[in-house]
Amino acid sequence: MARYSESGLPIEPVYGPEALAGWDPDTGLGEPGAFPYTRGVYPTMYTGRAWTMRQYAGFGTARESNARYRRLIEHGTTGLSVAFDLPTQMGHDSDTPIAAGEVGKVGVAIDSVEDMEVLFGGIPLGTVSTSMTINAPAALLLLMYQLVGEEQGVKGHQLNGTVQNDVLKEYIARGTYIYPPQPSLRLTADIFRYCRAEIPRWNTISISGYHMAEAGASPAQEIAFTLANGIAYVRTALAAGMDVDDFAPRLSFFFVARTTLLEEVAKFRAARRIWARVMRDEFGARNPKSQMLRFHTQTAGVALTAQQPEVNLARVTVQALAAVLGGTQSLHTNSFDEAIALPTEKAARLALRTQQVLAHETDVTATVDPFAGSYAVESLTDAVEDAARALMGRVEDMGGAVAAIERGFQKDEIERSAYRIARETDAGERVVVGVNRFRTEEEEPYEPLRVDPAIEAQQAERLARLRARRNGRAVTAALGALRKAAEGPDNVLYPMREALRARATLGEVSDALREVWGTYVPTDAF
Ligand code: 3HC
Repeated sequence: MARYSESGLPIEPVYGPEALAGWDPDTGLGEPGAFPYTRGVYPTMYTGRAWTMRQYAGFGTARESNARYRRLIEHGTTGLSVAFDLPTQMGHDSDTPIAAGEVGKVGVAIDSVEDMEVLFGGIPLGTVSTSMTINAPAALLLLMYQLVGEEQGVKGHQLNGTVQNDVLKEYIARGTYIYPPQPSLRLTADIFRYCRAEIPRWNTISISGYHMAEAGASPAQEIAFTLANGIAYVRTALAAGMDVDDFAPRLSFFFVARTTLLEEVAKFRAARRIWARVMRDEFGARNPKSQMLRFHTQTAGVALTAQQPEVNLARVTVQALAAVLGGTQSLHTNSFDEAIALPTEKAARLALRTQQVLAHETDVTATVDPFAGSYAVESLTDAVEDAARALMGRVEDMGGAVAAIERGFQKDEIERSAYRIARETDAGERVVVGVNRFRTEEEEPYEPLRVDPAIEAQQAERLARLRARRNGRAVTAALGALRKAAEGPDNVLYPMREALRARATLGEVSDALREVWGTYVPTDAF
């Protein structure tokens, strides 16, 4: 009897040649590094270079986070990934009343370019690649990064990294939006254009399915809604007058890796194939780089349990293996204690070590796309592709991702799927080791990492000193120029950069845009 996958697709007990009858390896598979990129975006994949080990980290003040990054680099991480606290993600300074209780909690607090200087102190921005999980204020943090680079003598064209900058999924699943969809998309197009001219190696967006998956999306929903959002960004940039091959090579993606390894590998392969075809056939992209779906993966946070937390090490290993067998470009492995609190130093190191074991002790880096031609995985790849394509078709029928978001479609679908998972877990049909099966009474005591509450006062003092020291008149003038650009068609990033250079704060710059663009209030359907 067939079992059903996380997307609800049948998984047969045995697959044989009949499963692939009529299957054409030339069109469905191709060579590694060639259209439709099912086998991976690079011809040599990990035989040429391992994936980037990019551990998401950041908490407290810029100084503390800087120390954590330096330690990660010492321990062999190959890319940085910055977590910002909620006030920063919402465009608020640490000293505003709304920020109270949240400063430095889920990430680092950044109020001005001076915090950013401390965050990257002693880290050479010309050689490291840095991802920043920042969405509505993505332009601000990107510009602050560029300004810090400038101070280090590093030019824009030498900078390498990614801003998440994916506001559409914020309306669907994550919640840190500020402005309504239309000005948010305009800002995205401004970032694409700015990067093309000033920071050409920057990945301008990380179109993310991860948070939808964490909210309960199935693998097919995860890639369908993510790729549909990707299509919306492509259309936005085209409507702003850009040529597809001028921005598409720098679009990137971000997915989850679940413990269900076979379907996950199929999902990654299917996503690459769908995107390649969409870009070539629907948008006429000619540059192969525009057709390549490059992605970051994070292991599934929701799969981690607070009970017997060490068991999470086993889960994370399987999930990371799924990402690697699926051809990820960059990977974050969760720490085993993340279901309880922010990771301790030791747990964060173990998470990185898990990647190092996969890269250096196993043989999975010795050959490209080892599942190619597998009756089971090729069949699943086709099935996930069909399911995702069908969902993308429904989004198109509604008028595209933005219209579907406004109707609450993706959110409803994801909630339905989340409900099914919760029901199956409660009924014991879905086994969660240590939770609904194989429980133990003897849990060991665990000492979580706690963020010092004094950070809030320290950040407020830093801000007060900055405001006293800077040239207030220059800041006011720069913010005025920014407002003017936001009202018209000019790229807002240029006046924004000057405002930040004059030491305008993150909250002040975001407020200036709020005055012009307003803020997003979810509709009832949400
Ligand atoms: N042969 C030849 N060249 C190769 C190669 C090979 N086998 N493998 C890699 N390379 C080259 C690439 O071409 C590239 O060179 P380029 O810059 O000149 O193009 C270089 O080596 C680097 O390789 P990649 O681009 O493959 O890897 P990166 O790590 O630099 O980039 C990415 C990966 C996915 C494109 C990028 O967007 C990225 O790093 N994303 C990370 C996103 C991230 O970390 N997000 C965190 C989210 S956490 C979050 O959201 C929090 C929450 O709420 C859970």
